Amino acid sequence: MDSHPYAPASWIPDEHGDEPPSNPSDNRTFRSVMDSRIQRRDVMRGGLSAAILALMGSAAPNTGLASGLLAGRADAASPLLDFTAVATGTDDTIVVPPGYSARPLIPWGTPITGAMPSFSLANSGADQAQQTGSHHDGMHFFPIDGRSPWDGSSDDGLLVLNHEYVEPRFMHRAAIGQALDSDGVPMVEGQRDANQVLKEINGHGVSVVRIRQGPDGGWSVVADPRNRRITGLTPMELAGPVRGAELVRTKYSPDGTRTRGTLNNCAHGVTPWNTYMTAEENWAGYFRNGDQEDQKPNLPREHARYGVATGVSRYGWELAEGADDAFLRFDASRRGPTSANDYRNEPNTFGWLVEIDPFDPASTPVKRTALGRFAHEGVVFAPAVPGRPVVCYSGDDARFEYIYKFVSARPYDPATADGSLLDEGTLYVARFHDDGSGEWLPLVFGHGGLTAENGFASQADVLVNTRTAADFVGATRMDRPEWGAVDPNSGAVYFTLTNNSRRTEAQVDAANPRAGNPFGHIIRWMPSDSDQASRTFVWDIFLIAGDAKNSRDANGRALGDDSILASPDGLWFDSRGRLWIQTDIGESSQNEGPNEVFGNNQMLAADPRTGEVRRFLTGPVGQEITGVTMTPDRRTMFINVQHPGATTTAEQFAAGQVTSTWPDGPGRGYPRSSTVVITRDDGGAIAG
Ligand code: FEO
Ligand code: CA
Ligand code: CA
Ligand code: CA
Repeated sequence: MDSHPYAPASWIPDEHGDEPPSNPSDNRTFRSVMDSRIQRRDVMRGGLSAAILALMGSAAPNTGLASGLLAGRADAASPLLDFTAVATGTDDTIVVPPGYSARPLIPWGTPITGAMPSFSLANSGADQAQQTGSHHDGMHFFPIDGRSPWDGSSDDGLLVLNHEYVEPRFMHRAAIGQALDSDGVPMVEGQRDANQVLKEINGHGVSVVRIRQGPDGGWSVVADPRNRRITGLTPMELAGPVRGAELVRTKYSPDGTRTRGTLNNCAHGVTPWNTYMTAEENWAGYFRNGDQEDQKPNLPREHARYGVATGVSRYGWELAEGADDAFLRFDASRRGPTSANDYRNEPNTFGWLVEIDPFDPASTPVKRTALGRFAHEGVVFAPAVPGRPVVCYSGDDARFEYIYKFVSARPYDPATADGSLLDEGTLYVARFHDDGSGEWLPLVFGHGGLTAENGFASQADVLVNTRTAADFVGATRMDRPEWGAVDPNSGAVYFTLTNNSRRTEAQVDAANPRAGNPFGHIIRWMPSDSDQASRTFVWDIFLIAGDAKNSRDANGRALGDDSILASPDGLWFDSRGRLWIQTDIGESSQNEGPNEVFGNNQMLAADPRTGEVRRFLTGPVGQEITGVTMTPDRRTMFINVQHPGATTTAEQFAAGQVTSTWPDGPGRGYPRSSTVVITRDDGGAIAG
């Protein structure tokens, strides 16, 4: 990705914040080791071959998983989908089924803490640290009195949400079409002052916001000492095997125990002990490393394998006028003999899952390094069983990257469980065999070839270089793993694989069956013996996304008007076992204008027992729907609309045009990311 700090239009519409592929390994999928069911010639770009059809339903891989999970009758109306499907749409608004209402809440810049500065494009970088950040993503509602996700108040709680990135052009004090610096001077491309850079860094991170439902049913922000902004500057601890390692010693933390901030927080997770995990996804491009040898980039593998920039970083924060350490650290080039002199190890303190206790505003967020370092989309915890290990899953969202799981060393005890359970255990990476079986490969120093002879020095080295270790053990290269979700009824694990335009026919395998995969699919597996800690599983494909001609549901049927979708991304089970699917058509089609087939990004619900899928919501122009949570009574649903208007081209922007004015409406400035509150007009539970 060729990024320029003040040319967001050059990358956001194309990649939506996604990094380019950086996996140079040629890990073969199991075609090379096992007799493949799919012949290359059968797989055609953009179309469903007989081989793919054979993957669906009962045909293959015949693990019995589909017949075991599809307990219902496909023809019977699902009790889990008790709403009227909405049509695809291209309007600049939210559409929900008849009898439902949708209202924006806490758009970017909403005051939540401190002096509660009200929103204005003229807000300073310091103001931004007291307001909600931008680009809302993963999110969870913590009942104010609850100790588990489905227990406690349904009208009062802490809403905790991620802010994935920012769009400088929509962020700074500016008339549409002419960005101004903090002094009101028209900006030269690429140049932002320290206040603007501070605003961008503070626009990232996590918000903790107390919200309450009033007598009229509406939700609003409540001033509360727990309200908090965690940003790209908040001090954090490193915990687990990497804490103190040479690879994370920096000028800021010479003993390698701390770092500053979290960035590009995509999806999230909720631990069994009711804390929030935020995932660092496309953080690599925020850094640059200009080290060269013979006029060629000379980056260590812990930078190169993750895509740290060799030119200017994505936002160019290191170039800010009057930059101090907090900004200069985004240049990871060597400046002196050791890491005490420079920021060479700063990127190694990113790429982790970060634990936050939203109920303790004085707590220091903790980067849990045992869970691995990659472009974490999010993390999903399997239901914890007392006496058994804690198990969680996380996908690495880049083309040809992997799906991981972590199994704690110590068993879960509800009376004593806390984040330290995540500091000792085993990280595994998934291998999907073409016959529908699968196995988890441990990433443990000294085992499976992860040895000094092969370039690994310690478990800390394995974890900082998680991708390289996974390459080495032969994991299956996937089509951009995004969110995962665990069915509370069956224990089956579902993951979205959003798309992969670069998969060639030669790279097709059973788990990633479509060359040039334009629309994505959803894979699922059942752990052996229903034990989430098991080293083996059986898998199949739950859904192949696409239009009517290029899609299949779990019954092997084409999707229809009420269910076509592309690029599944967000994925979540509510407490009834209903699967919510959110879409993010980044590069597939939408950039070229309103898409007549799929329309704006959307959210659908699926019944995992019948395979039925039904569209519940469509969003405004240029955005993605991402993040979903509910109150325990399921009467209020919260979702996020991220990057409305991101399809605005540089030419349109220069001409004073934007493709979306949601949620504020025409003539009221730039589009803003926002949470949306969805309720049923009769006060009933969402979707029945
Ligand atoms: Fe931030 Fe992979 O979506
Ligand atoms: Ca995105
Ligand atoms: Ca996502
Ligand atoms: Ca996405």
